[in-house]
This record gives sequence, structure tokens and C-alpha cells, in this order.
Amino acid sequence: MEEQQLLSDAEARAARYISKVEDMPVFPDSASLQQLARFDEPLPDGAGSAKDTLALLDETGSAATTVSNGPRYFGFVIGATLPIAAAAQRLALAWDQCASSQVNSPVADKIEKVAAQWLLEILDLPRESGVAFGTSATASTLVCLSVARRELLNKCGWDFDAMGLQGAPEIKVVVSELAHITVLKALRILGFGQARLIKAPVDNAGRIDPARLPALDAQTILCLQAGEVNTGSFDPFAPLIEKAKQADAWVHVDGAFGLWARAAPAKRELTTGVDGADSWTTDGHKWLNTPYDGAAGICRDRDAMAAAMNSDAVYSTASPESQKNLGIEFSRSARGIPIWAVLRTLGRTGVADLIERHCAMADRVAQALPSLGFELLCDPVLNQVLFRCATVDQTKELQQLVERSGKVWFGTTVWNGKPALRISVSSWRTSDEDIDILLNTLQSARESLETVNP
Ligand SMILES: Cc1ncc(COP(=O)(O)O)c(C=O)c1O
Repeated sequence: MEEQQLLSDAEARAARYISKVEDMPVFPDSASLQQLARFDEPLPDGAGSAKDTLALLDETGSAATTVSNGPRYFGFVIGATLPIAAAAQRLALAWDQCASSQVNSPVADKIEKVAAQWLLEILDLPRESGVAFGTSATASTLVCLSVARRELLNKCGWDFDAMGLQGAPEIKVVVSELAHITVLKALRILGFGQARLIKAPVDNAGRIDPARLPALDAQTILCLQAGEVNTGSFDPFAPLIEKAKQADAWVHVDGAFGLWARAAPAKRELTTGVDGADSWTTDGHKWLNTPYDGAAGICRDRDAMAAAMNSDAVYSTASPESQKNLGIEFSRSARGIPIWAVLRTLGRTGVADLIERHCAMADRVAQALPSLGFELLCDPVLNQVLFRCATVDQTKELQQLVERSGKVWFGTTVWNGKPALRISVSSWRTSDEDIDILLNTLQSARESLETVNP
């Protein structure tokens, strides 16, 4: 009974939080941040009250959240959580399944297999691919790139599993000059020295220029991206992958958010040719609006993926399609369940609407910015808007003014060596009225900058 009460209390508090996301300051105010000191308690010696623990979490914690689950958080590429995704996650938490394999959880195994198939269908990637539902695009990139390296080494006669890396033939890696930091991190973890990475030059919009693509060969991994983090731009997949194929290189695509353009007829063209790659990563927790941590690593050659990631033990053997044999974790939660729940509930058209609506909103913001006195740094490609004020100081000050308004939030970045501002429209909750509020807030902040610093 006490368990039921505690869970109902949590549910009521969660519902109350959700009912306030429209009105809370989007970035916590300083009083709420100061209250975080309440968590600075000594580790208790003995048992305490679960009810009090939950109360502290809510009463101090909720006010110190960034309201990324609200309609006016435009920072990074952080989506909110769709109600069905949150609800499915709640139920799955009650099941508390170790979703490693069919024997650990028949239901998770089944649903994640369906989710994997649907993901391949909606992203229109090779249907025979292996899909590992991991914690993040970072972790999924780690999976895909370790499969890539093992395969390329095996192809040149090096038994990677037996011999490891010492004395192995060198695998070259070609990455965009603007590769996401997490791709570089995955490469670093895998032992690819950062100074040895070969950088592919990009054009003004941040896309790899095929004419200047460094030489590739059968011992090269080429990392491309669908959705550059500042501009949202896409590498031109068709000519780049054609070159890679001729060289027998492995192509990996970081599509943490941008791969979802493929699910939207109005934006699909940006992804032309991406299905020719060998591996892809994407997130649910960004644009599909599923909860953290939900991502997928996808490899065209499922057998290669299963061989690289196998973790069968004498007491725990499972099919090659089991999640523990495709991804990193042995014990894991079924991250594919919220993804399945969203795909089942929105369907193809619902996902396309979500993506296209956000892109249209980003277009609207971009079109309004010059008349509000901002410099638009590139035409929006997707859901990202990149801009700045006339000076570096004004650019930084504007972000602070907007943050302090509590009405909206977005962050800073650096573009062409100078600070810039970046708005990303990624939440299912964002309405046209929220875009009005964003533009009004920008206008007021711009005007007060003029007053303070004419
Ligand atoms: C283009 C791109 N790649 C990779 C990542 C890393 O994704 P994750 O945070 O899920 O590891 C991000 C954002 O975080 C991104 O925008």
C-alpha cells in the first residue's frame, strides 16, 4: 500500500509539473538555483522517509529544472517528451525489465524488434540492418564505429577480436571539419588519435565539398552528417557515398536529429543517397520527442554488428538479434519501447507533421530576424536558426537578457570564429503563439540592448 501511495504521489507531482510547463520560467531563476543547496545533506546513516525524499525532489528539484519539456525551450536540439512516450516509459518502469534478450524479457524483445523494423521503414534505411537501441547518439556512434573498424581490419586479413589493435594495419578516418564533438569523442575513445583524423573541407553552409574530399581507400572510415549542429545542413550524400563505394571505404552517418528529415516528405530530399551508407546513428530523445536516454545505432550488415558486439556468456546465450548482442549494454532498459510507442501513435503522417511543422516555424523565425535587427547567418535548412547581433558583446548580452526574461531560452555557439546564437525548434508543444512570444522577446531584448548600448 505504501508503494502505491508513493507512486500515486509521484504521479500527482509529475502531473502538476506538466500542468505548469507553459508558465514556469524556462530557465530557473536565481532563487530556485540557490535552493539547490538543500540537496547538500550528509549521507544518512539509517533509513528515512521515502515520502520526504520525494517531496524534496519535487519541491526543490522541479523549480530548478530547465523547462525543456515545455513549449519555449529552444536550446541545443532538445525535444520535449510526447505524452505517449512518457506514459509508455512509466509502465515499462513498473515492469523493470532487463531487456537484454528474449529470455530476460519476452515483451521487450518483441517490441524492440518491431520498433527496429519500423525505424528502418520510417527512415527508409536497408531493412536487413541491425538496430541497437542505446543511450545516446554518442554511445550509438561508438557501436557503429567499432563495427566499422573491426570489419575493415578483418577485410585486410587482420583478426581484430584475437589480435586487437597492437600491430594492426592503420585504419584512416575522414571526418567533416564540422563533425559533431561526440563523433570525435567516440573516435578518441576507440583510439583514433585526434591529430591523425583527416579533415574534409566544408562549404559556406557547413557541408563537405565532394570536390575536396580527401582520398579514400578500403581502410578508411568516412564520417558524414545529416544535420550539422549549428546550421542543420546535410553533407551531399549521393556523390560522397559514390566515391566511398568506389574506394570500398566504410561510410558512417551521424544523423542524431537530421536523419528524421527523411521521414518528412518536404525535407526528404536533403537525405538523398543516405541509405547507401554502412551505418547510421540517430536519437529518439531529440526530434522524435521521446525521453532521455533513447537512441539507435544502425548497421547495414547485421551479422557484422552482432559479431562485433556479441556478449554471450555460458549462463546467458541469446540470438544475434538480441539487444545485448547488438549494442553496448548487457543489462539494459528497453529504450526501444518509447520509440515504438511514438511511432505507433503518430504513424508516418504524424512524424512527418512534427518535423515539417518545426521546420516551418524555424523558417518563420529566420524570416523575421533581419527586420528585428539581427544578422541571419545562413538560410535555415531544417529546424535550426543561426544568427547574431552587430557586436560580440551584444550577442552575449542578448542571450543573457532572453534567459533572464524566463519566457524563452536558447543558447550561444560559435560560427566562423565569432559568437552566434542558435535557436532550435524541437518540442511537440511549441505552437505558433510560442513563436510569437519568442519573436516578441527577441524584439524587447534587442530594444533594451539599444537603450543600454546604443
Ligand atoms: C549532430 C549531432 N550529433 C551527435 C549528437 C550527440 O547526441 P547525444 O547527445 O544523443 O549523444 C548531437 C547532439 O547532442 C548532435 O547534434
